[in-house]
Amino acid sequence: MSDRKRTYVVLLGVPGAGKGTQAKLLEQATGLPQVSTGDIFRYNLKNQTALGVLAKGYMDQGSLVPDDVTIRMVEDRLQMPDCAKGAIMDGFPRNLVQATAFEQMVAPYGGVSVAPLINVEDDETIRRITGRRTCRTCGTVYHLIFNPPLVEGVCDKDGGELYQRDDDYEATVRNRLFVYYKQTAPLVGYFYAKGLLTEVDGSKSIDAVQADLLALVKCK
Ligand code: AP5
Ligand code: ZN
Repeated sequence: MSDRKRTYVVLLGVPGAGKGTQAKLLEQATGLPQVSTGDIFRYNLKNQTALGVLAKGYMDQGSLVPDDVTIRMVEDRLQMPDCAKGAIMDGFPRNLVQATAFEQMVAPYGGVSVAPLINVEDDETIRRITGRRTCRTCGTVYHLIFNPPLVEGVCDKDGGELYQRDDDYEATVRNRLFVYYKQTAPLVGYFYAKGLLTEVDGSKSIDAVQADLLALVKCK
């Protein structure tokens, strides 16, 4: 199996913990692609595909998109050539059904490498999410105060327009937190029991969190 060994990093953490921010930086640092189920749904929505329209109904409420749809989508994504050495998983798996399916997908390649849990207090995540702005063109994530763009409303990388996600208003964020504790938090115990969980202090600066994560990924 050793020649087929791949690196699969599963980023865990409440909405707004910084998974997307860190996954993009890890992608640049390691060459492993960020696989964000939320981004794939948003891309489909932007292009008005059937998948995007279906996902929107769930996302706007802060609920999870059905497992069968999500799991099939990730299976397809992981077969793409850029995933030949593994992937940084951002927002998937998100419940025990998805975790079991994911383990089966990656078992031929040595399984999950590490599952870092980015720890942040709920009040802080609400501050982070309600101040978040995202580039319509490349998906780069900013924060009005903590990580502002050079020019207000404009992406530093490509000049794209920055927008506020439809699910980033406080009522929806609170439901996303509720869904997280009910459905996703059990994955903390799941990966801990397998010896794969490592906790990272997500309240530090973006660069400091990245350094901690990079050290973990490089050990694998
Ligand atoms: P998804 O897009 O995955 O959203 P999420 O998990 O709620 O996570 P977020 O994107 O809100 O937060 P993040 O942790 O990535 O934080 P970020 O880096 O942006 O999912 C959205 C929806 O899609 C779900 O509700 C569901 O409907 C559906 N979905 C997705 N995956 C699914 C699945 N597997 N199954 C079923 N449904 C699924 O950071 C937040 C802000 O904080 C930013 O502004 C950033 O600049 C700032 N920030 C980050 N780090 C720091 C720091 N260290 N210090 C200060 N500010 C920081
Ligand atoms: Zn951009």
